[in-house]
Amino acid sequence: MGRIISALTLSAVFVLSLGLDAHAEVTAADIAKYDLTNGQSVYNTSCAACHTNGILKAPKTGAQADWTARFAQGMNTLVKKSIDGYTAEGNMPARGGNPDLTDKQVGDAVAYMVKQVL
Ligand code: HEC
Repeated sequence: MGRIISALTLSAVFVLSLGLDAHAEVTAADIAKYDLTNGQSVYNTSCAACHTNGILKAPKTGAQADWTARFAQGMNTLVKKSIDGYTAEGNMPARGGNPDLTDKQVGDAVAYMVKQVL
């Protein structure tokens, strides 16, 4: 019986590890390498207009339910999509519509947003 259970547990772990990239899922360690103070100032000038109140179906900053499912993509994907822009249910403009922002500034702003719900 014990052997069957451990075999089942092992297969479950195996299936899970196949399905999920080991580096996906956002963790505190991922955002530790970003500058959150800079992120907050970038956020205030370039991201808050949509993300504070969820304009155009933007995930609301600080609203856990809007973010949890997105964390499975991992931090790098969240940042890349914010740099490139993307359309799923709404329209996230590249760099929040501010082409002057560097990749680092966008990354810092994403980290600041993530920090509010992590
Ligand atoms: C014009 C409105 C607007 C602005 C400004 C804006 N966003 Fe967004 N953002 C959106 C919308 C809408 C979505 C959801 C798009 C969707 O899921 O279809 C989104 C989604 C996101 C996501 C989630 C990505 C994902 O994969 O789930 C992140 C992270 C993000 N924005 C970061 C930023 C950052 C950082 C800035 C500022 C530099 C910014 N946004 C500025 C509208 C905006």
